[in-house]
Amino acid sequence: MAGQTTDKRYGKVAMILHWVIALLIIGQLAGGTFFTSLSFATHSELRISLTQTHKAIGLTILALSVFRLIWRLTHKAPALPGGMSVFERLAAKFTHIVFYGLIIALPISGWLMVSPYKNDISFNVTIHFVTFIHWYNIFYRC
Ligand code: HEM
Repeated sequence: MAGQTTDKRYGKVAMILHWVIALLIIGQLAGGTFFTSLSFATHSELRISLTQTHKAIGLTILALSVFRLIWRLTHKAPALPGGMSVFERLAAKFTHIVFYGLIIALPISGWLMVSPYKNDISFNVTIHFVTFIHWYNIFYRC
């Protein structure tokens, strides 16, 4: 079926998840570095609003990454190119596992960091799980 993973390339869902998560993480790195450079004394409102947006996007990354992991575990990936050595195959597998771990651990670490504070994210968590369900519906129909 069109858009499905084949032996040669990933399917539509896997590719969309890959690029959306990659772009969001790059945005988070740039955005996080930017808003933490703002002074509370002169840019307090902007800093707070960017921090809340950062948390919301971070949780979206977490939801998408968990979904991506489930998708990966339940769908076959394309075969690695022929002619790779055993070491190269192991290194590719190891790198994939580490990256899945990182895209899940990174937002969880941010979440843990803010959990003790008053300005928490419980409302955002609800919103993001609702958003996640909508995304799932969209992907499921691809
Ligand atoms: C993949 C996801 C994420 C990435 C790549 C990311 C990246 C970053 C970066 C680069 C900074 C700036 C650090 C600095 O220069 O001091 C930052 C700060 C921050 N992040 Fe994230 N973050 C992510 C997810 C989250 C999540 C899920 C939360 C909370 C729910 C969060 C909360 C924060 C807060 C509160 C700060 C400011 C810390 C401070 O004021 O020193 N982040 N993040």
